[in-house]
Order: sequence, then structure tokens, then C-alpha cells
Amino acid sequence: MSTGTDKEYWAAQALPSVLKHKLLAHYIPRFGGMTGSRGRHQVVYLDGYAGEGRYESGDSGSAEIAMQVAAHHQAKNALRWSCFFVEQKPESVARLERVAVQYRAQGVDARVHHGDVDGVLDQVLRAAGGLPLFLFLDPCGLGLPFDRIVQTLNQRRASGNLWQPTEFLMNFSMDAVRRLGGNAHSAKGLERSSERFDEACGGRWWREHFRPDKPVAADADEIVAAQYAERLAERTGMFVQSVPVVRKPEQKAVYHLVFGTRSEHGLWFFGDSVARARNAWWEGLEYKEEQEDPGALFSVASMIRPDPQDVADAALPVIADNIERILNRQQQRPFKLLNHTLEVFGDYYGQVTEPAARNAVKLLHKSGRTASTGIGGKTHELVVEPPR
Ligand SMILES: C[S@@+](CC[C@H](N)C(=O)[O-])C[C@H]1O[C@@H](n2cnc3c(N)ncnc32)[C@H](O)[C@@H]1O
Repeated sequence: MSTGTDKEYWAAQALPSVLKHKLLAHYIPRFGGMTGSRGRHQVVYLDGYAGEGRYESGDSGSAEIAMQVAAHHQAKNALRWSCFFVEQKPESVARLERVAVQYRAQGVDARVHHGDVDGVLDQVLRAAGGLPLFLFLDPCGLGLPFDRIVQTLNQRRASGNLWQPTEFLMNFSMDAVRRLGGNAHSAKGLERSSERFDEACGGRWWREHFRPDKPVAADADEIVAAQYAERLAERTGMFVQSVPVVRKPEQKAVYHLVFGTRSEHGLWFFGDSVARARNAWWEGLEYKEEQEDPGALFSVASMIRPDPQDVADAALPVIADNIERILNRQQQRPFKLLNHTLEVFGDYYGQVTEPAARNAVKLLHKSGRTASTGIGGKTHELVVEPPR
């Protein structure tokens, strides 16, 4: 980002950032709750492309969101977060530092580093030895090399019998895919730019979708994003989910938020957090339209936004069928919802919140398809029994 665009970026939160930040704000406290309640009651957090921490409008950026979560957990004496924030631009570091000072005064361990995230990563990994670690990597263009990410994630897994859960949320820039794809497709394209993208993607495989001798498919960018996530999953053995983030409905994604976990709890709560963050995105769009055209009777967003209740109603029989299918496949052996998250939610993963799964169990019970009532307990721990 040039200084001009930086100024614009930090004036107020753009819509894609609304989704990104709501997702962080919903999910990372859950990560802390799930992982930090065991052992030393401590977690380590890295925001590798931290930015300024707070917008001029007063809204929180990613770094302040993490500090708020840390302050909240600390005030409840629940958990101690060690937060590392890395930022390359000196002016942004200075602003970030001013935000961090306020949280340090509340006892939050907020460490601001000026420099390149790659140079600080090893220090963070040392601090996170034997502790849960969450990596948030949000570059504006290309991020860390694929092999560096894979090596980091596998190194954490391979550390003997230390319990040190690791999760990540990464920005995979679709603008960069389209730009670098266009460069590779063009006869005048620069090979050096393609090599940098090879590094980010972990190989030349993406070039197949932007060959100079073939027309480029309309969804080539989405295919590359999907394959990137699949390759990460293959190389790390993690569950990897990729969430497209758009500026406006019907537009191409500006980036994907790529999430990885080895935990079934992580997968379950991430889907719920995405659904909640999507609702916030729609509300942000309506608000933005009202600001831009205060006289309008209806905002476009309010007319095209799928009613969350309609989505939940449509999801209900589908999720119920998904659950019944698992029961049949397991030859009617009882199972816990948590252990089949992706199959339970199917296409509605990240579209509907957690209660949709409980309602589906209740629906199955009502029609005699399970003995489980769906009443009581935590939703993800509901056990689905065969019908009596
Ligand atoms: C998209 S902005 C971050 C926004 C922030 N994560 C948020 O959500 O509030 C990306 C930031 O990364 C910084 N940056 C770029 N390359 C970097 C690197 N190699 N190491 C650390 N920071 C970097 C940029 O200066 C910019 O402030």
C-alpha cells in the first residue's frame, strides 16, 4: 500500500474487513477457551501483518481486537494471552504502539515488533513452545512462502508429545491471483513475478490455469484458491476451510480467508463464527448504503439479503437428512455431532449458526427418526441415537 492508499485504508473499515474482523472477534475467544483452559492457561497469538491496530473512525483493526480479547480473558482471570504484532511500516508501527500502550496498562502482554513477519516468526515459535498458538496472517498481497507455512505447522505437530495446538487464519489475495494470473497469461508477462507467486503457492501448479496458449476460464481464480487450500490440507494433515470475502453481492472475491485447525472443536466453532460474521457483513452493507443514500426507501442490500430465517428454514431438512445419513452409514451406532461437523452441515457449513444442528435433531426426533430429543447440553456434544 502506498502512503495515499494507506491513509484511505485506515480512515474507516471497508466491508471485507467487517467480515474479517467479526470472524476474528467471534472465533479467537473460542480458540482461547478451547485450548487455553488446559495446561498453563496461556496462549500465544501472532498477528503477522498487524497494521495500525485501530482505524481513524475509532473502529478496531485486527490487532486491537486481539488485545480486547486478551484484556477480557485476563480480567476474568481465565487466560493469559501473549500477543505478538508485527508491522513493517514505521508510521503504522507508531500508531499501533499507541494502541498497545493502552492495553499494556491493563496488564495485557502486547509486544509490537517493527519489521518483517518472517524475521519474527521463530521468536514467536520459541515463545509458543508447549503452548497453544494462533497465527493470523493478513498481508495486502502475497504472504509467507507456502513451504515456510507448511514447515511451521508441521514442526509444531512433530514436537514429541508436547500438547501445543496450532491454528491459523490467512488472507489469500484473489486480487493477487488475478493480477499474477494475467501476468502469466500475457506474452509480455514478467517471469520474476510468476516465480514469486510459485513461492507463495508452493510450486508452479497454478500456472496451468493461466497458460499463455489457452483461454483463461472465468473461474480460474477460484480454482487456484480451492487448490491452495487443498494443498495446505494435504501437506499439513489439517482441516482447511476457505471463506470467500467480497466487497458487494455478486462480485468476485477480494480475498479468501483460509482457516486451518487439527481440532474438531475448531472446525465446529469456526463454521458458526463464519455464519455470524456473514450476518454482520450484510448489516454493514445496509448501513453503508443508508449513509451513501439517506433518502432511499429501501437499500439494495435489504432487498437482496437472504433472510437469515429463510436460510435457517431451508437448512433444517437438509441438515436433518445429513444427520440421518450418518446414522445409517454407521449402522445405527450413536454418534456425536462434533465428530462429523462438515457432513452434518454440508453446504450450509458457514451459512447457518450452531442452533441449526440442534433444531435438525429435534426435527428428526419429532418424526421418529432418532431417539435423541435434542434438548439440553451443548449442541456440539449432542449424541444422535438410532430410533427406538
Ligand atoms: C491488510 S494490512 C493489515 C490489516 C490488519 N491485519 C487489520 O485487519 O486490521 C497489511 C499490513 O501488513 C504490513 N506488511 C506488509 N508486508 C509485511 C511484512 N513482510 N511483515 C510485516 N508487515 C507487513 C503492511 O504495511 C500493512 O500494514
